[in-house]
Amino acid sequence: MTQPVRTAVFPAGGLGTRFLPATKVVPKEMLALVDKPIIQYGVEECLASGIEHIIFVTGRGKSAMEDHFDFSPELDATLERRGKKELLDVSRRVATMARISYVRQKEPLGLGHAVLCAKQLVGNEPFAVVLPDDVIEAPRPCIAQMIDVFSQHGGSVLATMTIEGPAISAYGVLAGSADSANPRLYNCTGMVEKPKLADAPSKQAIIGRYILTPRVFELLETTKPGAGGEIQLTDGILALLQHEKVYGYTFEGKRYDAGDKFGMLQATVEFALNRPEFADKFRAYLKSLPL
Ligand code: UTP
Repeated sequence: MTQPVRTAVFPAGGLGTRFLPATKVVPKEMLALVDKPIIQYGVEECLASGIEHIIFVTGRGKSAMEDHFDFSPELDATLERRGKKELLDVSRRVATMARISYVRQKEPLGLGHAVLCAKQLVGNEPFAVVLPDDVIEAPRPCIAQMIDVFSQHGGSVLATMTIEGPAISAYGVLAGSADSANPRLYNCTGMVEKPKLADAPSKQAIIGRYILTPRVFELLETTKPGAGGEIQLTDGILALLQHEKVYGYTFEGKRYDAGDKFGMLQATVEFALNRPEFADKFRAYLKSLPL
């Protein structure tokens, strides 16, 4: 029997430089995809996967995230006075949807360091890591799919996508072999951060969803800064491989990199086309463009 996965850590201490100038003051996690901040998609995915406690690792200039998931008395009073019941429900639902704790990463010293900042709040149990700028649309929430794999196999589980060609160089890439019984499962023996195409050990690219065992914390504590002087999560997971199984899991669904300008544009178009209230109007508009 594996322990239940009850907690999800959202590293959100990064600077979001790929989205400047929008992210000079506004945290990238608060950029809207259609009408919701991108971080809310990740929170909703976790809640739909049975996660009970969410930990945001924040940093300087990120207080808008805390305000977003809190009550907004002036706004709510105004909506109530104007009889805007539906909008009032939208505002209040965000404040009450999840049990959220916050921990501050005082300097952006890397993703591994951000995860380590959540150690005390997570405690000695397996946990999920959600990179909020990866927005995933899936028939079953990605974290729920990964918890299924974890319950069956134990170990740690990294969500992957199959990437063809030179685009692989933007990702951490798994080494190992596909599982003979389950084609979505990959028995990981190593990983390489952002390899050249010729050096990539496979086409299995790691994306921003992980289920990790708490042993990763003690390993991150002794992980030396790697690429860019940052403490890399992949180095911590490589150390984990010396002690326990690590699986890649090709999740079912589609991932959008909403922390990148082009990825956000793709997500905006596709999410808008899925919104019943303006899908037809938006489709007609796109068709009218002289492309
Ligand atoms: P990214 O590299 O995608 O985010 O890190 P970034 O550094 O904010 O953005 P760019 O590359 O400059 O545009 C992946 C995730 O890890 C978090 C980020 O907030 C993001 O969610 N992160 C990264 C931290 O929490 N702390 C860090 O020190 C670094």
